[in-house]
Amino acid sequence: MDGKLIVFEGVEGCGKTSQMQLCSQWLESLGISVLLTREPGGTELGIDIRRLLLEKADNKPIAELTELLLYAADRAQHVEQELKPNLAKGKYILCDRYTESTIAYQGYGRGLNMSLIKQLNYIATGGLESDLTLWLDVDVEVGLARKRGDEQIFDRIEQEAIAFHHRVQQGYVELAALYPERIVRIDGNLSKEAVHQIIQDNLRDRFQPWLAR
Ligand code: TYD
Repeated sequence: MDGKLIVFEGVEGCGKTSQMQLCSQWLESLGISVLLTREPGGTELGIDIRRLLLEKADNKPIAELTELLLYAADRAQHVEQELKPNLAKGKYILCDRYTESTIAYQGYGRGLNMSLIKQLNYIATGGLESDLTLWLDVDVEVGLARKRGDEQIFDRIEQEAIAFHHRVQQGYVELAALYPERIVRIDGNLSKEAVHQIIQDNLRDRFQPWLAR
């Protein structure tokens, strides 16, 4: 059996984490072997890179290009160490963020050169694309409010101005329009149960048409 790379994307507070849990429980209940992972931070080295990227403790400056290269380094390690070997074993990989995050955050959000980002994405992944990207679309304000309700301390990216998050959102809008066969928009303002149901339907339709409804 071939593995599948299923990526969850969206702005801050879009509900990826709880949807990934629900989706993983559902797949496991069907006897499908699942790996839950994320970027940045899906490997041991990646956990260190994630800390460098997101912790705000000592306010060390990170240049925008450095940030981009650190995400790429995290991804290169993740693809090599986790994604490729687990796809080869036939696992369903549920990955919290992947190449589209870099296009949305560093490309649309920070305004870095898009062709450089695409080149780096290609170098880091060796061309490995998601089989399906589920974009959970929530309003930026709603997502940030959800997040800020949960946590007292915001990481480096969450602290960016609201305009930054709107540019990121626009990135997802444009990506979904460009790659409709691979990126599916799901209304993240719906209830948790409704979103989960839509995700089930998408996975069945694409990968497991034989699964009972
Ligand atoms: P996430 O894991 O969704 O944060 P949390 O665990 O707090 O919900 O994402 C981490 C942050 O990293 C998020 O703000 C988006 C950012 N990011 C980028 O800017 N570029 C990237 O390529 C990736 C993968 C993440």
